[in-house]
Amino acid sequence: MEVVIAPTGEVGRLGADAVTQLLAGRPAAVLGLATGSSPLSTYAELIRRHRAEGLSFAQVTAFTLDEYVGLAADHPQRYRNVIATEFTDHVDLDPAAVHGPDGLAEDLVAACAAYEAALTAAGGVDLQILGIGADGHIAFNEPGSSLASRTRIKTLTPQTRIDNARFFGGDVEAVPVHCLTQGIGTIMAARHLVLLATGRGKAEAIHQLVEGPVSAMWPASVLQFHPHVSVIVDEAAASRLQLGAYYRDTWANKPVWQGF
Ligand code: GLP
Repeated sequence: MEVVIAPTGEVGRLGADAVTQLLAGRPAAVLGLATGSSPLSTYAELIRRHRAEGLSFAQVTAFTLDEYVGLAADHPQRYRNVIATEFTDHVDLDPAAVHGPDGLAEDLVAACAAYEAALTAAGGVDLQILGIGADGHIAFNEPGSSLASRTRIKTLTPQTRIDNARFFGGDVEAVPVHCLTQGIGTIMAARHLVLLATGRGKAEAIHQLVEGPVSAMWPASVLQFHPHVSVIVDEAAASRLQLGAYYRDTWANKPVWQGF
């Protein structure tokens, strides 16, 4: 696991660097996209590079991590719409190549199985962008989630519904109770995981992810078992890391040819 500690304003650029490097060698890459505020600066930088430098997503296939159950197709907070508004509508990514779990399916179990099948048919995810919840959740895999789980229905914790109420006009009751989410096992199957976090509110989760014991209580800690993880954090999110000096030294001395 590589831990990169950077000024807050650099986190998006570094996240975009990881994607840009992948696309340089593999224009038809499969990208895993996350919603939430953490990846927004990365998406903004990728949009800038698309416009200013011609970075192309024309051959890319994309898969989102999760989706609320039951939100209307045109609801602005439906993650399928959020990812379009925040990112994919602003680059040359074919809308038909952006996939998400179907939270409106009549048969949700079948929809989850279909999503797993689509991921497999696409050859798996080359690079998965991730945020992290303050409680260590990734996608909607709340504490206690099976570390081997696949795409399935989950019940959101009251805290996550409270946290996300800000996107629903502050109305907790408007936040769906259920979601479909890639499982932790699904996420772990991606070939490169790029996790982005900023702010002191994420500091304990980042410490547990990087340095804690692997435990379903901090679902992201399972990333310690993944062979290729880049954790890109700002100073505040890094503030509880025990080996911060070591991560800084490693990054400062990283061979230039190595990339992400
Ligand atoms: C939500 C999303 C996660 C995201 C997390 C943190 O629960 N399902 O994918 O990582 O919130 O969100 P933020 O990046 O806004 O802090």
